Amino acid sequence: MNTNRVDEIIDRYGADRTATLAVLQDIQAEYNHLPREALTETASRLRVPLSEIYRMATFFKAFSLEPKGEHIIKVCLGTACHVGGGPRLLEQIERDLGIKAEGTTPNGRFSLEAVRCVGACALSPLVLVDEEPHAKMSATKASKLIAELSAD
Ligand code: FES
Repeated sequence: MNTNRVDEIIDRYGADRTATLAVLQDIQAEYNHLPREALTETASRLRVPLSEIYRMATFFKAFSLEPKGEHIIKVCLGTACHVGGGPRLLEQIERDLGIKAEGTTPNGRFSLEAVRCVGACALSPLVLVDEEPHAKMSATKASKLIAELSAD
C-alpha cells in the first residue's frame, strides 16, 4: 500500500486530530476498506492512539477492516422491504453470487450486505448497488442485475 495517498488525505485536513473521522471516511472511500498500514499512519500523523483509531474503525458500520468488492450490493431488510420480499431477494443474490451476506466473492468483484431501512420505503423492496437505488426489486430482476454487473 502506498502511504503517500494516505498522507495526502491527512494533509487535506491539516493533520488535525479533530478530523480523524473524516480522514478515516476518505481512506475507506479510497481503498474500499481501511488498510492496516493506513490506520498506523493515521494514528502516527494525527497523534491519536492506535487503539482509538481501531475503536472508531470497528464502531462505525460504514468502515471495514477487510477489503470490499468492487461493487457493494446492499439488500434492505427494514420493515417495509422485509414485508415486500427483502429476505427472498437476499437469498437469491446469495445464490447468484455464491456468498452469504457480509461476504465478498473470491474474485473481489462483489460484497453483499444486509442493511436496515435506508429511508426510501416507498421504493421497497430496495437493493442498492454502490449506493445507487434499484427500486421494487424482484428475485428475477435481482438475478438480471447481478448478471449485468458480472458481465461488465
Ligand atoms: S425498509 Fe427498506 S427502505 Fe425503508
